Amino acid sequence: MELEHVLVVGAGQMGAGIAQVVAASGRRVSLYDAAPGAVERGLASIRRSLEKLAEKGGADPDEVLARIDPVGDLVPAELMIEAVVEDAAVKEDLFRRADEILAAEAILASNTSSIPITSLAAATRRPDRVIGMHFFNPVPVLKLVEVIRGLDTSDETAAAIVRLAGELGKTAAEARDFPGFVSNRILMPFINEAAYAVLEGVAEIEAIDTIARLGFAHPMGPLAIADLIGLDTCVAIMDVLHEGLGDPKYAACPLLRQYVQAGRLGRKSGKGFYDYK
Ligand code: CAA
Repeated sequence: MELEHVLVVGAGQMGAGIAQVVAASGRRVSLYDAAPGAVERGLASIRRSLEKLAEKGGADPDEVLARIDPVGDLVPAELMIEAVVEDAAVKEDLFRRADEILAAEAILASNTSSIPITSLAAATRRPDRVIGMHFFNPVPVLKLVEVIRGLDTSDETAAAIVRLAGELGKTAAEARDFPGFVSNRILMPFINEAAYAVLEGVAEIEAIDTIARLGFAHPMGPLAIADLIGLDTCVAIMDVLHEGLGDPKYAACPLLRQYVQAGRLGRKSGKGFYDYK
């Protein structure tokens, strides 16, 4: 199965990173985002990232960018990877539309971090060709792709996506389609517990992150990671874990919810646990 032309839907931090690594592997990318100006912002962030990598001997930014075509709607391609907002209805609608536009043999992949692949597959007539391809932020740097099979994903589709991940310079790890898959089932309760430690006054924000960085050799503490991911996304994922697994231990920390209500979403809004202004 050749995957030489990839449609990336969503040009936010994840979508832009995905478009970048796919184009850097020599493939042609069509980049689409329904929000006005989003593709231009995505391309600017890809350029910044490529320039950093070029300083260390990476590919010429202009050459990589020349392989990324901004498009005004979904277009046919051999593979779609979507990285739009974590909203099940929005993603299901996108998969329904993609099923009409992309050829029957094309693969439809989602970068979702928590929405069931099986329900996205059910919105299409090709559930065997729908799969989760979950990247990690910053995509150009982090080496993992979590590959999630829906109930009906074929072996052929899974093999093609694992192979592609390798060709993008990533390592694939497979997980089954249960809430939060593996990565967020582990990461989100870690972040949530750190938020409880703040709420209960157990320690200062900096102290909690220092403990994780120096005590566990994590590159960033859980509260800094929460700001990187977006606190709204963290709450949305906790809600998926809570609802899907039914255990009260997955209830989102009230402090996370309150920050979201206040518009403190992390880096993208300029303030979360830390101030970025
Ligand atoms: N593009 C290109 N290069 C980048 C980059 C980008 N977007 N971001 C960072 N880098 C490079 C820097 O230029 C730097 O290069 P040098 O070492 O050559 O100088 C290198 O990466 C390290 O960056 P920094 O020195 O700025 O800082 P750092 O050592 O702390 O690394 C980090 C930054 C890569 C973000 C690191 O802190 C890290 O890996 N943090 C953890 C992030 C994490 O946990 N991400 C997962 C979030 S969960 C998720 O994404 C999925 C989900 O479902 C929610």
